[in-house]
Amino acid sequence: MNARTRLLTAAMLFVAGVWATHSQAESGWSDEKIAELLSRMTLEEKALLTSGRDAWSTQPIERLDIPYIWMADGPHGLRRAPSTDTWGYGDQLPATCFPTASALAATWDTALIRDVGAALGHEAGALGVNMLLGPGVNIKRSPLGGRNFEYFSEDPYLSGKLGAAYIDGVQAQGVGTSLKHYVANNVETERMWANSAVDERTLNEIYFTPFEIAVREAQPWSVMACYNRVQGVYGTQSPDMLTRKLKQDWGFEGIVVSDWDAVIDRVEGIRAGMHLEMPGKPGHLTNQMVIDAVKSGELDEARLDSVVRDILRIVLRANAVAASPREQNLDEHHDFARKVASEAITLLKNDGPVLPLTGNDRRKIALIGEFAVNPRYQGNGSSEVRPPRVDNFMDIVGQEYGNDFVVEYAPGYSLADDVDFSMIEEAANLAAEADVALVLAGLPLQYESEGIDRLHIDLPPSHNRLIEAIAAKQPSTVVVLTNGSAVAMPWVDRVPAIVEAWLGGQAGAGAIADVVFGKVNPSGKLAETFPVRLEDTPAFLNFPAEDGEVIYGERIFVGYRWYDERKIAPLFPFGHGLSYTEFTYSDLGLSAERISDEDVLTVTVTVSNSGDTAGKEVVQLYVTDLAASVRRPEKELRGFHKVGLEPGEKRTVRFELSERDFAHYSTRHGRWIAESGDFRILVGASSRDIRLQQTVTLQSTQKVNYQFSEYSFFREFWSNPELQPLLIELVPKWLASQVSEGQPLEEAVIHDFIQDQPMIKFPYFTAGEIDADQVKAFIARCNGMTYTP
Ligand code: BGC
Repeated sequence: MNARTRLLTAAMLFVAGVWATHSQAESGWSDEKIAELLSRMTLEEKALLTSGRDAWSTQPIERLDIPYIWMADGPHGLRRAPSTDTWGYGDQLPATCFPTASALAATWDTALIRDVGAALGHEAGALGVNMLLGPGVNIKRSPLGGRNFEYFSEDPYLSGKLGAAYIDGVQAQGVGTSLKHYVANNVETERMWANSAVDERTLNEIYFTPFEIAVREAQPWSVMACYNRVQGVYGTQSPDMLTRKLKQDWGFEGIVVSDWDAVIDRVEGIRAGMHLEMPGKPGHLTNQMVIDAVKSGELDEARLDSVVRDILRIVLRANAVAASPREQNLDEHHDFARKVASEAITLLKNDGPVLPLTGNDRRKIALIGEFAVNPRYQGNGSSEVRPPRVDNFMDIVGQEYGNDFVVEYAPGYSLADDVDFSMIEEAANLAAEADVALVLAGLPLQYESEGIDRLHIDLPPSHNRLIEAIAAKQPSTVVVLTNGSAVAMPWVDRVPAIVEAWLGGQAGAGAIADVVFGKVNPSGKLAETFPVRLEDTPAFLNFPAEDGEVIYGERIFVGYRWYDERKIAPLFPFGHGLSYTEFTYSDLGLSAERISDEDVLTVTVTVSNSGDTAGKEVVQLYVTDLAASVRRPEKELRGFHKVGLEPGEKRTVRFELSERDFAHYSTRHGRWIAESGDFRILVGASSRDIRLQQTVTLQSTQKVNYQFSEYSFFREFWSNPELQPLLIELVPKWLASQVSEGQPLEEAVIHDFIQDQPMIKFPYFTAGEIDADQVKAFIARCNGMTYTP
């Protein structure tokens, strides 16, 4: 079957509502097959294959029976266009809209996210999509990031682990993923060309890490290179990022796909390690550039061959997946989406406790907010899914709880006009007469979008004023928020209960009901810090960009690392989330008090459900380096487990820590280093609710080369017992002039002013005892030595 017949067949099967396959199962793949195909390809065909055919597919080459693959957004549902050459905005095929990534992250549940991935992969297969464009593991550097709803967390470890689980789930269905947007793509403003000016240590510890974890643990079929520049180089053209890090350091086996229209110089991209330009360009102009570059010798054909080989492997692999017909399972996935959304819901505050609302005494609930009838459930931009159905809270409450409660509704605000305050009074009066007020507030769709950063973290003025007015009249006010990232809550002290419901997908309304009415005990925890004010946030002074430069001035102190270091109290801290039950922590145990960096440290802790309701707790483990040679965050997340416990039940949770969990990235040495010294192991229920801690001593066995340059200070050598003798050998005469007659040279007291001078100046200070070459030789000699950090 050639590619065209395949498409036709697929279209016919869609109409019949059954799975249409890209089946070229007969096309199987092997290294021999790829080598054979490559040997038969012309230069023109090779160039064709390294650019898309159209909006969503790769170029099929019918002469050689090379099929294509179909890609689609991503990440929280399929945005599958009607055909590969149409964009699919508005006319995309119906697909389940799951909660967006910030909600998924709040579950802290890798098994659940793997299942979401499996459901997405399943639907992708049913819709004939071979590669899903997600997940997005960019770090939430500022709550203003326009795409924060599409990303998991401010923490690299959590983002990486959740990303890996998602990829595992999708790929187990024989559908590929595209891990995006690689890398340091943290502003939407000027996203096509802004330069992320991020220092090497920060890039490695914060921004590369989620990609590294996901690549090492889950091998996505592809990685999507970002639009922006990083340290001055476009993401699609950086050999450092695409070849050295991704391929050589992390062992990436897939292909690098450009973000849509991210390519500036295709030839440069291929040289750097990019594989596929997306989407295809009209007139094949960029293909011609590749052909010309090979002909002129500017691009080595062997390099192009290696790129083509990698693409063929993915294309053939995607098409070799067994063609098992499958339904999209929309009803089943709707129920699953509700379950996922309910696991994400994060109970921020519950004084009283006001929640859950239980009983069948027909208490009167004032249901307030247009979101109750017109829910907000996803973000704006390329990730927009067209769900087959969307639940609304009003209907769900009527259908499922109508016999137990009397519910009366007032809109309270208009989603079309966020400074229309005319509906507040009616809503406040309704609240005053009710037993409890349930206010559904949050961010309207236009507040959170790809391509635009937020300007502030406030709710619409009408929502804030409404909440104040309701709280003034009804002491039992519950605020339920719908938003994709952190918001300010000036009324936080005036309401007893706050529920963060995120962007919960098509079935999010049911999930809210499940938590509010106690069918589900909330277990979500914040994967991002909620600040009191925008001014408290890490990137406040440097967001978004200035003259095209995004200055990462907060360095490694992103998210809770910043609030800890600056001793700023957040509104709600990273990792926070309440339950309808209580958990107690006991018996923190370490497998050893002293370890080497080659050992695995096992940490165990017992968690008990000491309340009377079944519930789930996210147990979090953080590590503190107590004596680092560089400035390190007060604590860093290094493990988490979500455990479900019946009342009275207890469970021992186990973590394993190894070298990397203690390490920092040394810019000087260009590598991760776990230094000898004491580390504190903290276990708790949030980053600010540490319940137990213990100390372990690490002895490093790493051998690290000294790294000096001619600009290293005299002091660095003089104060080092291993290097001081070499310095004495280098400038004995000068040192002799610094001591009294007969005094040993190592006792010389060198003035601070001189100690702080770089070695390059010592030919002058020593009045010519050494020359510039001898300084260089001395540096080289020291650099050849190793030490244990
Ligand atoms: C977005 C990607 C998306 C792609 C295809 C780009 O503008 O940045 O996230 O996958 O478009 O829609």
